[in-house]
Amino acid sequence: MQIDILTLFPEMFEGPFSVGLFQKAVERDLVKVELHNFREQTHDRHNSVDDYPFGGGGGMLLKPEPIFETVEMLLAEAAADVPSAEKSPPVILLTPQGRVFNQQIAAELARRPRIILICGRYEGVDERVREHLATDEISIGDYVLGGGELAAMVVVDAVTRLIPGVVGCEESAADDSHTTGLLEYPQYTRPSQFRDWAVPEVLLSGNHARIAEWRRQQSIDRTRQRRPELLERAGIGRNEPGQSKT
Ligand code: 6GU
Repeated sequence: MQIDILTLFPEMFEGPFSVGLFQKAVERDLVKVELHNFREQTHDRHNSVDDYPFGGGGGMLLKPEPIFETVEMLLAEAAADVPSAEKSPPVILLTPQGRVFNQQIAAELARRPRIILICGRYEGVDERVREHLATDEISIGDYVLGGGELAAMVVVDAVTRLIPGVVGCEESAADDSHTTGLLEYPQYTRPSQFRDWAVPEVLLSGNHARIAEWRRQQSIDRTRQRRPELLERAGIGRNEPGQSKT
């Protein structure tokens, strides 16, 4: 999968992309990230990427031309790379006005061979970018960040974990919180007794059917306590077996 990121601050991505699972995925050619500083697509003496809003009001807006030029260059490249049958990559604007990112959107994006992410900055982006260039707008939650960069990193992290082969143990990924629509069950490792706290007996029993049943029940109880709204979506009614002690 190739991920193209338009940003005025490519250096922000150095840390997160050079460690752990993500770096391994890059080394193994499972994912490729290209950072594009759209300041390079400016043609005036000052390399301006922003300007005052028509009609007044505070702040500066990102100008359309450098963003359009950069994305159109990438779309042309993608069209030349992949024969016409393939859909062209989604162009995703990261903005607090977008649809709220979740595991389902991450899974949707992980199926694409290429995606383009545009990081907004300053007080906003010229509306024509939304209307005539972006095919999708994503927010990572109901709070305001200084720019789309951190949001892009969140999206890239969640999406790359879903590319086959990136996460070692497919089984453990399948049980992750939100993958099942529920929160994950509690997990324990050695020692089986730590201070006054013993690991639940069932997990030491070797009885795989009982363990699976216990985990399922724990997932449901925990989701009911912490995120009841998720149960409706997972198709588990409020009165499903359970309410066991925790
Ligand atoms: Cl994608 N961008 C900004 N600037 N703030 C956000 C966001 C994105 N998602 C949540 N807050």
